[in-house]
Amino acid sequence: MIVCVCHRVSDKAIALLASEGKSFDEVQFELGVATQCGKCEDCARHVIDKCHAQASMAQQGWMPIALSMAR
Ligand code: FES
Repeated sequence: MIVCVCHRVSDKAIALLASEGKSFDEVQFELGVATQCGKCEDCARHVIDKCHAQASMAQQGWMPIALSMAR
């Protein structure tokens, strides 16, 4: 899904950087999200926050429900 129409940045591209631990400002600098019209900022922040939350849960030994039920 395209998050930033102005710079054609996908949620996957944002998630990749977020999964490396990068902040919104770092993602914005590298990909240009929310640097033109700014309408994508909330969505981009949501993608980053979700990735950081998942990484935090993984570090604490939590796993997504779908994975835990597959065992
Ligand atoms: S949609 Fe991202 S800056 Fe316009």
